[in-house]
Amino acid sequence: APIQAPDLSSCNTPEIPDTATGLSCCLPYRAGTAIVDFKPPPASAPLRVRPAAHLVDKKCLAKYERAVALMKKLPDDDPRSFAQQWRVHCAFCDAAYDQVGFPDLDIQVHNSWLFFPWHRFYLYFHERILGKLIGDDTFALPFWNWDAPDGMAFPAIYNNQSSPLYDEKRNPAHLPPFTLDLDYNGTDDSIPRDQQIKQNLTIMYRQMISSAKRAELFLGQPYRQGDQPDPGAGTVENVPHNTVHLWTGDTRQPNGEDMGIFYSAARDPVFYAHHGNVDRMWHIWRGLRPGNTDFTDADWLDAAFLFYDEDARLVRVRVRDCLDPATLRYAYQDVGLPWLNAKP
Ligand code: C2O
Repeated sequence: APIQAPDLSSCNTPEIPDTATGLSCCLPYRAGTAIVDFKPPPASAPLRVRPAAHLVDKKCLAKYERAVALMKKLPDDDPRSFAQQWRVHCAFCDAAYDQVGFPDLDIQVHNSWLFFPWHRFYLYFHERILGKLIGDDTFALPFWNWDAPDGMAFPAIYNNQSSPLYDEKRNPAHLPPFTLDLDYNGTDDSIPRDQQIKQNLTIMYRQMISSAKRAELFLGQPYRQGDQPDPGAGTVENVPHNTVHLWTGDTRQPNGEDMGIFYSAARDPVFYAHHGNVDRMWHIWRGLRPGNTDFTDADWLDAAFLFYDEDARLVRVRVRDCLDPATLRYAYQDVGLPWLNAKP
C-alpha cells in the first residue's frame, strides 16, 4: 500500500542534532481543519516560466525579493510564512510525523522514490504563495542551473547582503565566482576552472544518462506503507543534490547549517533554487530516452502528502497529480543541456 498523508494532530519532536535542540518543525494545525483534495490549476492559467538564476533580470529579481520579504513578514504561525515554509522541510526529513498506523516508522521524503514528487509539490506551493503575496499569477521561482558552465557557481542574486535572499550561514570559501564542484566531498581540490567544468559535465552525463537507465536508478527505491525509511536514493538525489547541499553549507556552523543539513536547509532561500534544478532534472530525464519512464506502481502514484496552499488551505496531494509540470502550469526556461555530449 502507498505511504499515506500524515496525521497532523500527532507530531513528534524532530530528530535533529543536540546543537539545534528546542526547534519544533510541526506544521500549524488545529483539530478539525478541513483537508481538501488537490486539484491542478485550470488549463487556462498562465504558465509560470522558471528562469535560470544567473539570467534573472532586474525587474524579475525585484519581484522575487519583494515576495520573499513579504513572506518573511507573515506571522510565524501562518503556514505561508517563511518560518513555516522552511520547517515543512525539517518536518519531513527529521521524523516529525509517523506513518499512519505505524508509530515506529517515520515519514521520510529523502532516500527513496518519494524524493522527486514530494519536493516538486513543496516548490509548487512555495511558488504560488510567493506569487499570491505580490499579486502575480505568473510568478516563477528561479532555478540554480548547476548543470551548465554559466551556473556552476553560487548564484549571485542570493549573495547580496541587503537582499531577503541572503543567508549568512553559507560556506564563505564558496561564494561567487568560486567554481562549484558537483562531486564535492568536503574538501576543495582547487583544480583549474575549465577542468572542474569538464568534470562536472561528465558527472551530469553519468547521473542523468549512463547510471540512470531505469526508474529505480533515477527516481530512487520503492518505499511503501510499513517500510523502513531510506531504502535508497536515485542518482541525482545523491549527486549533485546532496553534494551541492554540502558544498553550500557553512563549515563554521556545528552541522553545516544552513544548506548542509536537512533540518535547516530550507532556511536558506537558495534551497528553492537548488531544488528547482533538481526538479528540472526529473522533467528532463523523462524526455531523454524512450526507456526513461516514471513508475506505474500504484504504491508510488497514490502516495499522499499534505501541504498548505496559497490560501492557507490544507491540501492532500498524491504523486500521480504532479507528474507533468505543464499540468501544474509551470515550465523551465530553455537553457540547453551542455552535458548531453559529455560522455567520458
Ligand atoms: Cu529535501 Cu535538498 O533536500
